[in-house]
Amino acid sequence: MADVEALKREAGIEACKFVKNGMKVGLGTGSTVKHTVIELGSRISEEGLDIIGVPTSLATEKLAKEVGITLVELSDIDGLDIVIDGADEYDPHFQLIKGGGAALLREKIVAQESSAMVVVADDRKKVETLGAFPLPIEVTPFSHEATVRSLSRLLDCRVNIRMSGNGPVITDNGNMIADAHSGPKISDPLTSESEILMIAGVVQVGLFNNMCDAVVLAGSNGVETIINPNGRLI
Ligand code: A5P
Repeated sequence: MADVEALKREAGIEACKFVKNGMKVGLGTGSTVKHTVIELGSRISEEGLDIIGVPTSLATEKLAKEVGITLVELSDIDGLDIVIDGADEYDPHFQLIKGGGAALLREKIVAQESSAMVVVADDRKKVETLGAFPLPIEVTPFSHEATVRSLSRLLDCRVNIRMSGNGPVITDNGNMIADAHSGPKISDPLTSESEILMIAGVVQVGLFNNMCDAVVLAGSNGVETIINPNGRLI
């Protein structure tokens, strides 16, 4: 089996082909897209690539600054040309689970503001039905136990607050992450997304529906770019 880190790097670098001079680029979060960010930094310094970026997390902001990408606030521009981001799972309809790195809220805001979304992934992320990866849900710290109970009732599965050491993981937005262990049963992610968002303590859910236009997928046979036939890159 090919080394997973090498696959992530291949996918991350290949996705840079979507980035052209003058573009406003959303910069995702995670161990795959970090290779995209580093490669974009190299192209800026070596080839004079002229882009501006919007990071989806404090971690990506730090990395992007280190590699020399000019960053702006989403509020100061009128939308993005493209966002490149990782995913925890994608299904045959290009619906995604994201948030394994706890950055789902900013990732979704940035994706929503982008004219196209390209996902970078290794082939472990491809699934028939979403949900084997526990679904990340950003929740308010206020009464989070009650929110977790409501989620557990709605999804009929175990839901737990993500921990780091002795305390809960706190997102860049000061919230917590609840992970829902439904198993691979999320066959109607659009309905699941709306139902989860109805719960008051939920800030956002890591179901990214009808957002992904292409997946740059690295596997042992190389990298392939799979274009969503219903997407915006056709
Ligand atoms: C961050 O919150 C996530 O949405 C990541 O984009 C996702 O978990 C993929 O990360 P890796 O590329 O590290 O697997």
